[in-house]
Amino acid sequence: MKLAIISDVHGNLHALDAVLDEIASQGVDATLSLGDFLSGPFDPVGVADRLIDLDLPSVRGNHDRHIAEGREDDWNVDALARSELAPHHFDWLRRLPATAVHGDVVFLSHGTPASDSVGWLDVMAYGHAVLQSREHVEREAEGFPYEVLLCGHSHVPRTVKLADGRVVVNPGSVGLPFDSGSPDAHYAIIEKRRSGWAVSLNSVPYDWQGAAKLALDRGFPKWAEVVQSGWAKPREL
Ligand SMILES: [Fe+2]
Repeated sequence: MKLAIISDVHGNLHALDAVLDEIASQGVDATLSLGDFLSGPFDPVGVADRLIDLDLPSVRGNHDRHIAEGREDDWNVDALARSELAPHHFDWLRRLPATAVHGDVVFLSHGTPASDSVGWLDVMAYGHAVLQSREHVEREAEGFPYEVLLCGHSHVPRTVKLADGRVVVNPGSVGLPFDSGSPDAHYAIIEKRRSGWAVSLNSVPYDWQGAAKLALDRGFPKWAEVVQSGWAKPREL
C-alpha cells in the first residue's frame, strides 16, 4: 500500500495544484487529506471546487468546522471564506467526519483523535514549533490500534515511531508553512514495506508569488509574507 497525505491547504490553490501534480507521478493507491482546506485569503472557492471533484478520503480541520458552524471569535479568514462559499460547499464541509480509517490500517485525524485543535506531534512554545513530550504523543494514541496514525494542524512535517511500532505522521502544510524557513508546499508519501512503513516528507516548489499576490490583493499582507518566506508563526496572522 502506497499513499499520499496532504493537510492544511488553507485556500492556497497554487500550492494544492503543485502538490497534486507531483503526487500524480508517484503511483499512489490513494491520496488522503487531513483538513483545514479553505481558511486563507487566497482562493477558498477554487480549493473547495477542486477537492469536491477529487472526493479524497478526508477529515475536517478546526477551521473547516469554524467555517461551517460560524463563530463570533472567528479568524478573519474564516469569515472571508464563509462569505464566498456557495451552499454546496457548506454541504461538503458539514459532511466531513472528524476522524476516519482507511484500509483498516491508517487512521486520519486533524489534530489528535480526541481534538481537532490540539497538536499531536508539535506544540507552539514561545512562538516556535517544538516536539510534544513522549508522554503526550503516546497517550493520544491509546485506543487507536492502527499501524499509521495521521495528523495535521501544526503545519510542521514530522514522523514519530511509538514504542509498540505504530507510526504517527504529520505531512506538514500544503498551503501555509509555519516556522519552516521555506515557502515550499509540503506533503508526505507513506508506503508499507516488509520491514514496516516508510515515510517520505516532501517539499515542492510552486508559484508562491502568485499565491502572495492573491493575499495582497485581498488586503492580507501578512499572509502574503508568510507564503513567500515560510518563516512566520501562527500568532502573527
Ligand atoms: Fe491549519
